[in-house]
Amino acid sequence: MRDQSSPYANNPASSKGARVRIPHLQELKLRGQKWAMLTAYDTYSAAIFEEAGIPVLLVGDSAANTVYGYESTLPVTVDELIPLVRAVTRSTHRPLVIADLPFGSYQASPEQCFHTAVRFMKEGGAHAVKLEGGTEMLPQVEKLARSGIPVMAHIGFTPQAEHQLGGYRIQGRGDDFQRLIDSARAFETAGAFALLIEMVPGEVAAQITSAVSIPTVGIGAGSRCDAQVLVWQDMVGLSAGRLPRFVKQYLDMRSLLRTAARDFAVEVEAGTFPGPEHTF
Ligand code: KIV
Repeated sequence: MRDQSSPYANNPASSKGARVRIPHLQELKLRGQKWAMLTAYDTYSAAIFEEAGIPVLLVGDSAANTVYGYESTLPVTVDELIPLVRAVTRSTHRPLVIADLPFGSYQASPEQCFHTAVRFMKEGGAHAVKLEGGTEMLPQVEKLARSGIPVMAHIGFTPQAEHQLGGYRIQGRGDDFQRLIDSARAFETAGAFALLIEMVPGEVAAQITSAVSIPTVGIGAGSRCDAQVLVWQDMVGLSAGRLPRFVKQYLDMRSLLRTAARDFAVEVEAGTFPGPEHTF
């Protein structure tokens, strides 16, 4: 019997105790039930998102910015990401954990892609991987799918190609629309289990979503994708600087943390912390 009070109630992707698996996501698409994905890079955030009923966690290469402080996702390496993937898989039981393949770790050949994905699965415990690109990545997706490695294809704006794309630009406008639909269909045929669609007009993402039978996960792609993803530090207002228009900030964690840190410092300086109740 399902616990109706839980965020997983009526959600086959999340029945109590069971690991979310790809057929569950497929079933949600068939039922027209939307779901949420968040990034996660550490033990506490991953465990909290599991408690909140988030069925899919992405250890994104956005860790380049959110964890390591790089200016773009380009510098982050496989060796820097694997420990984060391991932290997330070790700290959760139910969510499907997807590891992002970083720039330069899969583009050279299907074999390079396979070896990188295997490292994320063996050393990180990932259940699936994600890669960015267009139809030039079809051989990589085919190789992974044939090897039993679930792969999500990231289309539309692909941050690892920001220099080639001329910066952070909306994709799929005008004639580019057909190219995106064709690549979405080709990725499905090649064996991708889902598509992540970033920064494309809502209408284009909606058409891709109805053109394929695999789930679509949108970020800056309107409301008609099967699922939505956000970078968690953006979602809770922890990130510094201006946020993209597609981000909704559900909390002002930056100011909450700043206030807590200041209160702590003030009490230490005043000698009121630690008090007798914190002293052995
Ligand atoms: O790395 C990442 O965080 C991403 C986002 C698009 C969710 O790929």
